[in-house]
Amino acid sequence: MRIEGRHYRSIWPSEDGRGVLVIDQTKLPFAFALKRLETMTEAAEAIRSMVVRGAPLIGATAAYGVALAMRVDPSDDHLAHAIATLGATRPTAVNLHWALQRMGRVLRAVSSSEREERAFAEAAFICDEDVDCCRAIGEHGARIIAQIAARKDARPVNILTHCNAGWLATVDWGTALAPIYRAHDQGINVHVWVDETRPRSQGAALTAFELGAHGVPHTVIVDNAGGHLMQEGEVDLCIVGSDRTAANGDVANKIGTYLKALAAHDNGVPFYVALPFSTIDWSIADGVRDIPIEERAAREVTHMTGRAEDGALHTIEVVAPGSLAANPAFDVTPARLITGLITERGVAPASREGLLSLYPERAAA
Ligand code: MRU
Repeated sequence: MRIEGRHYRSIWPSEDGRGVLVIDQTKLPFAFALKRLETMTEAAEAIRSMVVRGAPLIGATAAYGVALAMRVDPSDDHLAHAIATLGATRPTAVNLHWALQRMGRVLRAVSSSEREERAFAEAAFICDEDVDCCRAIGEHGARIIAQIAARKDARPVNILTHCNAGWLATVDWGTALAPIYRAHDQGINVHVWVDETRPRSQGAALTAFELGAHGVPHTVIVDNAGGHLMQEGEVDLCIVGSDRTAANGDVANKIGTYLKALAAHDNGVPFYVALPFSTIDWSIADGVRDIPIEERAAREVTHMTGRAEDGALHTIEVVAPGSLAANPAFDVTPARLITGLITERGVAPASREGLLSLYPERAAA
């Protein structure tokens, strides 16, 4: 994606080959700052502290984290240590484990002297593959938007999205935002309702930043406004991303997604989830029951950071002192509330049969 005329991915190897560069997402939208990761420990900390976030980008960063570890010590023990350390950073996004398993499989198959070079090559391959997947998701999803646009004359297609499932959450393009970018680039009149997405405000801070940089018309709303807008006929469809999609089509995504799906269902608004194959966890048969949900620090609920009128960032308390706060970071939307899954291979119903129609090779597994 382009920021002030320059094309960026969300992660890339540094020119000197000794590190990896990422965009520090904790600084957005008020500063566009790059951060250099030079060790596996720094990569793990970047994931844990959400300098990088979003399921596909978490996977890509973990892959590079393994590569950074192999540069220091390519032994079997250190490979196992790197995979365990990176794997313990965040529990819900399955792309993390998918990428680590893939790195482990590829690296164990070669001698330790070959591992550093092989690891950087595989991490780059994971990134390129993610870009291809997201581009294809954009094509498939844009067709859905075009069909709705055809029924609306020149009036805007209003799309509601939650959290940030754009290029910042992937390597480029995004999942939920890829169809929106594609439709916008094709000249379709789109307008996006951006859920602010408390407590960390990925919608207000990141999705709004991305859409603004690309010139896509959008409006930020508080998390509780979506149901009302749907009742008013102001939402034509919802598109969200996924951190883990179970084999039965249930989808874990940022906390609050489930409530939007319920409201969409009640109002007959199509509700789509966009995801690459790396987000499908075929080992989980029932997502509502079995997808692990990350519990984050209460401080993310009790405090907020923003820019004051003097231009400086300040963190302030927003909850009655002494009150307890709970912070489940994801929820699971049951497949029955999902109109369709938009993947790199096309669109299918959110069900075991739907997923297998796109990935028939999994039927034998
Ligand atoms: O906690 P985050 O910011 O990592 O959560 C991100 C999301 O919930 C995204 O919607 C999801 O990872 C899909 S990203 C393409």
